[in-house]
Amino acid sequence: MKNILVTGATGQIGSELTMFLRQRYGNENVVAAGHRREPDRELLESGPYHCIECTDGETIISLVKQYRIDTIYHLAALLSAVAEKYPQKAWDVNLAGLFTVLEVAREHACAVFTPSSIGAFGPDTPRDDTPQDTIQRPVTMYGITKVAGELLCDYYFRRFGVDTRGTRFPGLISYKTPPGGGTTDYAVEIFYEAIKKEHYTCYLEAGTYLDMMYMPDALKAAVDLMEADPGKLKHRNAFNVTAMSFAPEHIAAEIAKHIPEFTMKYEIDPVRQAIADSWPNHMDDSAAREEWGWKPDYDLEAMTGDMLDKLSRKIA
Ligand code: SER
Repeated sequence: MKNILVTGATGQIGSELTMFLRQRYGNENVVAAGHRREPDRELLESGPYHCIECTDGETIISLVKQYRIDTIYHLAALLSAVAEKYPQKAWDVNLAGLFTVLEVAREHACAVFTPSSIGAFGPDTPRDDTPQDTIQRPVTMYGITKVAGELLCDYYFRRFGVDTRGTRFPGLISYKTPPGGGTTDYAVEIFYEAIKKEHYTCYLEAGTYLDMMYMPDALKAAVDLMEADPGKLKHRNAFNVTAMSFAPEHIAAEIAKHIPEFTMKYEIDPVRQAIADSWPNHMDDSAAREEWGWKPDYDLEAMTGDMLDKLSRKIA
């Protein structure tokens, strides 16, 4: 039986992954830890919840002991645009937090899942079919913490035998918890605005291709990787995973198939445009496909239909 701790449990991935894990492994076996004092009722009432600072090792150790934790999904992190605004804080949360968790995992024999990101690449990285193993010279604080995090996880596996695993997630799209402070947030905002106003003002330029993924695929990726046969993993941390690659005009056109009145204009945010320009157009995720059977269920068309359907009902 798995006993799981999820950090960042009230965040974009955590709020959904916690519920996904509870359905799979049992409510009481999945402990949620986040920085919000008052998380969603669903999260609070379905299983244990603790309000913590992810850099506070003592509290994490006490949770690991109290609940006999054997697996940690460490999701607490700042996203790219917020990290650019508060670089010192991003270092602290994204990297010091990860270091704390890895140390706890080393001492208490826990497996650790950590998401990396398309942000771990930089302008020198090949843009198209970005290989699994390639140049990584990110120019954002977010990217620096992500690439250092990948290396740190590899180190803890090689040096101490900690069962670390991770994915490089693309922009994640969900109708449940909004992202808050990422460069790929437009691909979520556009749905809210399309439903409410039939219009969206996009902060990225037309032609800015980025990898994206619908949240159900991201949840599946995290759990499938943690359940994968370790003997088959040649890589460990930071598997490229993607489900679709598009530019703003493509998602707008897809939405317009459902909402014909929908229009979009552009007002470019130079900070987020520069970040997006330093990231890949489309990653090659064949290593994940070969080593642990990764395969997404949602492409742009399927994701858009489901998002509009679920979000319309939520907003109504
Ligand atoms: N969605 C993230 C961001 O935009 C990328 O990992 O910051």
